Amino acid sequence: MDFVEFKQLAKVRQSCRDYDPDKTVDESLLESCVDSMILSPSACNAQPYFYYIVTGEKAKKVRNALTSFGMNSFVKNVNAFAVVTEENYNLSAKIGSSMKNQDFKSIDIGISAAYFTAEATTLGLGTCIMGWFDEDQIQKIVDTKNRIRLVIAIGYPKDSNIREKKRKTHQAITKFIK
Ligand SMILES: Cc1cc2nc3c(=O)[nH]c(=O)nc-3n(C[C@H](O)[C@H](O)[C@H](O)COP(=O)(O)O)c2cc1C
Repeated sequence: MDFVEFKQLAKVRQSCRDYDPDKTVDESLLESCVDSMILSPSACNAQPYFYYIVTGEKAKKVRNALTSFGMNSFVKNVNAFAVVTEENYNLSAKIGSSMKNQDFKSIDIGISAAYFTAEATTLGLGTCIMGWFDEDQIQKIVDTKNRIRLVIAIGYPKDSNIREKKRKTHQAITKFIK
């Protein structure tokens, strides 16, 4: 197996705020993102999520639902979205989550989105994970009553500029204990 430089991927993955209006994302690339997302780990391997990959006319409706509160105006040129719903757990995950009083579903969904966006980055795509949208509208677009947990914008970045990451320091969020 070839070694992949993960740190490089982590550095260049960023929330894309400007998408190229002239380029559409080929469906095979979206499938590739799904392939990697499916490989992500989840509690009891339950994978409590569903990905609606929305393009075409329906993507326009998703854009409206993302921007209707005056937020996320940067998605104006985005033609592909992943709408991520929360789905039921299998029995062991349900029992585990309840016994441990832990919200494993949110964790699983977040990890899956991280895999999806990491794969997209390797393909030269820009993405932005979003939690702010009109949930009712998006439920209607994809025809589900389940909670919409995330929407991921997918497109080609307009420029190749990688912003410097603003993050907390190691000391602020880590401690090595022996
Ligand atoms: C769960 C989640 C929800 C987010 N929701 C939004 C959102 O609604 N709108 C937005 O512009 N960015 C959103 N973001 C993007 C974050 O603002 C971004 O990841 C963070 O500022 C770090 O920047 P970077 O992704 O470029 O490294 C979200 C990110 C995550 C992980």
